[in-house]
Amino acid sequence: MITLALSKGRIFDEALSLLGAVGIQVLEDPDTSRKLILSTSRADLRIVLVRASDVPTYVQYGGADLGVVGKDTLLETGDAGLYQPLDLKIAKCRISVAVREGFDYAAAVRQGSRLTVATKYVAIAREFFAAKGVHVDLIKLYGSMELAPLTGLADAIVDLVSTGNTLKANHLVEVERIMDISARLVVNQAALKLKQAPLRALINAIAAAVKI
Ligand code: PRP
Repeated sequence: MITLALSKGRIFDEALSLLGAVGIQVLEDPDTSRKLILSTSRADLRIVLVRASDVPTYVQYGGADLGVVGKDTLLETGDAGLYQPLDLKIAKCRISVAVREGFDYAAAVRQGSRLTVATKYVAIAREFFAAKGVHVDLIKLYGSMELAPLTGLADAIVDLVSTGNTLKANHLVEVERIMDISARLVVNQAALKLKQAPLRALINAIAAAVKI
């Protein structure tokens, strides 16, 4: 049995399309069932649904043989011990700095002001602002980052931007693009040895289906 860890949300639908392209259908709809283990059209492949930030942990400790996870999560929570053979080029977005409309970010940076930045990506934000030489106080949030500049909790946020609609709807503007993000395939190194033939075949099939 091969176990693939996926998270619901941003990555799930595009990951299913990719599996479809290699002839694998998921037999249950996680939106209508409460099941956390989903069977597929391949008797030897099952999907486990976990939180995005738990995918690396499941794969690292062998709770899943492989998983699909955003580069943002890998950078933030670590990728130790994970084999990362493929950029799947799905769930593309970027991590950016955004501020309230009217907040002069460039001037604040120029003047060397200390900025308060709210984010779920504390490690990524810390590294980015340190490299820029900007002093920041980081506030860790777990969601709805957009609210922070609107309520006075922070001057800026560091968050994922895809279409930009969420920023626009909340009167925020993107002022720096930190990095481009896409989902990666991660594989448990021991599983790759123990289940070498089926895992290699699956990885190769997925690689062939990835859009250039
Ligand atoms: C992300 C991010 C923004 C939104 C941006 O949230 O936190 O809220 O997507 O997308 P847009 O530019 O297309 O509007 P996500 O949906 O991944 O859920 P999250 O809040 O759990 O991170």
